Amino acid sequence: MSGPDPTDPTVTTAATVDGAIRSRRTSLLVDAERPVPDELVDHLIDQATWAPNHKRTWPWRFTVLTGDARSRLGDAVAEAAMALGLDDAKVAKLRGKYRRSAVVVLVWVAVDADPVRAREDRDATAAGVQNLLISATANGLGSYWATLSDTLVDAARAVAGVDGGHDLVALVYLGWPTGSVVAPPRPEPQVTRLH
Ligand SMILES: Cc1cc2nc3c(=O)[nH]c(=O)nc-3n(C[C@H](O)[C@H](O)[C@H](O)COP(=O)(O)O)c2cc1C
Repeated sequence: MSGPDPTDPTVTTAATVDGAIRSRRTSLLVDAERPVPDELVDHLIDQATWAPNHKRTWPWRFTVLTGDARSRLGDAVAEAAMALGLDDAKVAKLRGKYRRSAVVVLVWVAVDADPVRAREDRDATAAGVQNLLISATANGLGSYWATLSDTLVDAARAVAGVDGGHDLVALVYLGWPTGSVVAPPRPEPQVTRLH
C-alpha cells in the first residue's frame, strides 16, 4: 500500500481520503465466496450517488449480483458470445468470469436524447463509480472496474431487467482481498500553469 492506511482510525480525514485514492487498486485477488454484507454494498452505492451531477438528473442505476445471479450473467453473456461465433475457449471464459468475486455491481446510465446531457450524465456516473471504488477501498474491499463489449451488453441488460435506454458504464467486481497487487506507476501529469 502506498500512502496512509485508509482503514486506520488514527489518520486524519485528508490522509484517509488521500490514502484511499492512492491505495485503490484494480484487483481480482479477492475471496470469490466470502459474503460482503448487503448493508456495505448499499453504502458503497449510496456513496456513488454523491458524485457531482449537472442538472441533478441522477442518471445512474445499479444492479447487484451475488450467488447464482453471477452465473446467470455469465451464462447469458456466454450464450450471446456463442451466437456471435466466438470460439469455445472464449465462451467458456465468459461463462465463469463473473464468479471471480463475491459481488458484481453493474452501473448503468440512463441515456438522454440530448447528446450534451448524455455525455455529462455519463461523466457524472463515471465519477460515481470512482466514489464507489474509493469507498470500497476505505472499507477494506478489493475492487476492479471492467466493462463489457457493446455486442454483449444486451445480454447483461436482459439479466438485469434494464432497458435499451441505459448504457453500461461499469461492471465492478467487489470482494474481500486475498492478496495485493503492485501499483502501476503513473507518469508525471502534464500540467500547464497560466498566471
Ligand atoms: C472504463 C474502464 C475499463 C476497464 N476495463 C478493464 C479490463 O477490462 N481489464 C482490466 O484488467 N482492467 C480494466 N480496467 C482497469 C485498468 O486496467 C486499471 O485501472 C489500470 O491498469 C490502472 O491500475 P489501477 O486501477 O490499479 O491504478 C478498466 C478501467 C476503466 C476505467
